[in-house]
Amino acid sequence: MLFATVISCLSFIACCHARALGSSAVAGVGSTEKPLAKHTSSPSLTSVSSPLCLGTPAVDVQAISEASDDPSYWLADIAHQGIAAFNPNPSTYKVFRNVMDYGAKGDGVTDDTAAINAAISDGGRYGPASGETSTTTPAIVYFPAGTYLISTSIIDYYFTQLIGNPNSIPVIKATAGFTGLGLIDGDQYQSSGNQGWTSTNVFYRQIRNLKLDLTNIPASLGATGIHWPTGQATSIQNVEIEMSSASGTQHQGIFIENGSGGFLTDITITGGLYGANIGNQQFTMRNLVISDAVTCISQIWDWGWAYQGLKLSNCTTALSINNGGAGNQLVGSVTVFDSTIQDCPTFVTTAWETSTSSNGSLILENIVLENVPVAVEGPSGTVLAGGTTTISAWGQGHKYTPNGPTNFQGTFTAPTRPSALLASGSSNYYTKSKPQYSASPTSSFVSIRSAGATGDGSTDDTSAIQSALTSAASSGKILYFDAGTYKVTDTLYFPPGSRIVGESYPVIMASGSVWSSITNPVPVIQVGKCGDTGSIEWSDMIISTEGSAPGATLIQWNLAAEAGSGMWDVHTRIGGFTGSQQQVAQCPTSAAVSAACEVAYMSMHITSSASDVYLENVWLWTADHDLDSADSTRISVYSGRGMLVEGKNIWLYGTAVEHHSLYQYQFSGASSIVAGFIQTETPYYQPNPNAANGPYPTNSALNDPDYSSCLSGNCDALGLRVLNTDDITVYGAGLYSFFNNYSTECSTFPTPENCQSEIFSVEGTTSNLVVYTLSTVGTTNMIVKDGTSLAVVSDNLATYAATIAYFTL
Ligand SMILES: *[C@@H]1O[C@H](CO)[C@@H](O)[C@H](O)[C@H]1NC(C)=O
Ligand SMILES: *[C@@H]1O[C@H](CO)[C@@H](O)[C@H](O)[C@H]1NC(C)=O
Ligand SMILES: *[C@@H]1O[C@H](CO)[C@@H](O)[C@H](O)[C@H]1NC(C)=O
Ligand SMILES: *[C@@H]1O[C@H](CO)[C@@H](O)[C@H](O)[C@H]1NC(C)=O
Repeated sequence: MLFATVISCLSFIACCHARALGSSAVAGVGSTEKPLAKHTSSPSLTSVSSPLCLGTPAVDVQAISEASDDPSYWLADIAHQGIAAFNPNPSTYKVFRNVMDYGAKGDGVTDDTAAINAAISDGGRYGPASGETSTTTPAIVYFPAGTYLISTSIIDYYFTQLIGNPNSIPVIKATAGFTGLGLIDGDQYQSSGNQGWTSTNVFYRQIRNLKLDLTNIPASLGATGIHWPTGQATSIQNVEIEMSSASGTQHQGIFIENGSGGFLTDITITGGLYGANIGNQQFTMRNLVISDAVTCISQIWDWGWAYQGLKLSNCTTALSINNGGAGNQLVGSVTVFDSTIQDCPTFVTTAWETSTSSNGSLILENIVLENVPVAVEGPSGTVLAGGTTTISAWGQGHKYTPNGPTNFQGTFTAPTRPSALLASGSSNYYTKSKPQYSASPTSSFVSIRSAGATGDGSTDDTSAIQSALTSAASSGKILYFDAGTYKVTDTLYFPPGSRIVGESYPVIMASGSVWSSITNPVPVIQVGKCGDTGSIEWSDMIISTEGSAPGATLIQWNLAAEAGSGMWDVHTRIGGFTGSQQQVAQCPTSAAVSAACEVAYMSMHITSSASDVYLENVWLWTADHDLDSADSTRISVYSGRGMLVEGKNIWLYGTAVEHHSLYQYQFSGASSIVAGFIQTETPYYQPNPNAANGPYPTNSALNDPDYSSCLSGNCDALGLRVLNTDDITVYGAGLYSFFNNYSTECSTFPTPENCQSEIFSVEGTTSNLVVYTLSTVGTTNMIVKDGTSLAVVSDNLATYAATIAYFTL
């Protein structure tokens, strides 16, 4: 994700400035507009000055009533004992900040901008002006119920969670004279004209439970709800954005111009020129509800995108993917499934033409149209008529069934969905958003620090954590991991019934000799033992190792569960952070492979005893650079395997696996998997060493690939290997190989695209496999089956990535 593509970036600039930044700049710093009625138009003020207020000072009355209207929420009420273990001042650094403690009033009248920004920046944290990233300054910035008036952007910092009270969603309300790119600006542009951070390097942040109200801002001025160019391990959940729907409105709800994302869910947007105006390498967006915009979703550019559970209504165009126009389409591919489009003249506008490249690949599966006359509109008219109907499966682009390519545009037979993966009584896939326990009283929670763990990054917390896990599960309590780094020296067992939630992203860091054998893996976290049944919920955490740990399997999942069991925003982070002893000092790219930098056997193992495993927004990352070095210096740390799935009934929504030496995803002897978007990157150091001759010997018990039958070229780690597995549908995949021995010359578009010879391998008795919108970078053979190439890159050139719309076996 360090990698920034020149092609996409240049392409973007043209459309971005014309379509988004340009209009936003109207309301920006250089604006000569003066707000004429800054406060008089505020509905909140009207209520404050109502007769009920009598002679009392208006602001105080409102503040009191807002405060007393703030319903309790455990995250606000629980003792805040979290620490940043590796902060220079761990005893004084505050992880949890309530904006009220920084002077915010939330009364709908007072300008709270400075107070909110003070709550974010307090404590020597890293903002966009620094351009730097840091793991030692995590923060939750909490908003009680209330209406927070702001006149300029809330400037988001690195490693920050902006969280509102879900029991009475706080409103962030822009003044009429608001200036800035976004009520929340996730990567503020600096005077240099560049974003503060390289967007592909912005990790570990969230926005939850907020309403953004842009309606005070004149419709004719460009205004943006959230500016969100981000990388992996980022999420937006349960957010509402309200904009002007007046004729000529220039508002946009979410603006993303680039990055390597990302996940969002449960977002409601009304009004605007664009509900969402978005471009990024890839993204997963679930339950995105947009109405009353001119264009519900404007896709600026991408390589791939998965939209699940869209509800788009009353827009002139529901989804535009024709940016750039025929012959210069900037959108690589889009997959939409389980979605409803209502009362829009046109669902999709595309520029795809039969005779051209595979840019603009599109898959529509299980889409309900209600009063949508045109389903797909091409450059020369209607391609697919709409009406009130259901699109079972329709697509355009290149297909391989399994041989190809064939240009196609039209219907095809949708795969049969395993019933175990469906929501009950529905043909849609089962989904479940991250639990926030909004109805649970504070007394349902047990703090891991109160239970005796220190989280200080040096004390051995193994036994304190294990006894808290055991007693919390048996007493039905939710175990709260206060922020901190919890060093453990032996496996932690999560019993069935566990509910575990982190403050910010607490780190469990495996350390010591238990994990020293490169041939004898030992789990760090064991979710159920073989044969255990029940369910668990686990959210907001990071699993890591310290120093040499070649035998560490960071997460081993054995639990046979009920639907609803899973993990949300839980990530592995292997190397590249303070405290890991796997940083620039220990593991520079110039060093030869050494035991000190062999840091994990496997990120995650879903074993054959596991079933009903739900993963949402999970990033399994072996570090390619040091997050705590001032200039994001690259490092060479070596991990064996990414995610091995051997179980059944698996949901993988918004997951990514990067830089493991043998493979990223391997589905082996598994069954019934729905996945999308999945994203991978090969290690940057390969082929020195390559996948076969790296430090991790293959283990035939785990069916590791031995790479003996690699096609000619570099035999680097696979992104996705599917072996003897049935019933898999992948709703969007991006398998990238940018580097050869740290040089990107091999991945430049459109040639040579030869960093590695193959990246996706299908083997053995695998059946009922469907992959939609497969995009690869830097790979000669896009699909290999049992050692034979089925698809070569030169046949499928698209945008920066090469794309195949539809592959089935
Ligand atoms: C993102 O877009 C901005 C604005 O055009 C550009 O300055 C920056 O280089 C781009 N970053 C990446 C990672 O593409
Ligand atoms: C549809 O949107 C327009 C403005 O875009 C608005 O005036 C109208 O009320 C909306 N209709 C419905 C049914 O929501
Ligand atoms: C596909 O995208 C590439 C890169 O943006 C562009 O050069 C090319 O013209 C596009 N082709 C079509 C047919 O749109
Ligand atoms: C890898 O790149 C480095 C730095 O450019 C170079 O010194 C080294 O010889 C290269 N190794 C191989 C095997 O090409």
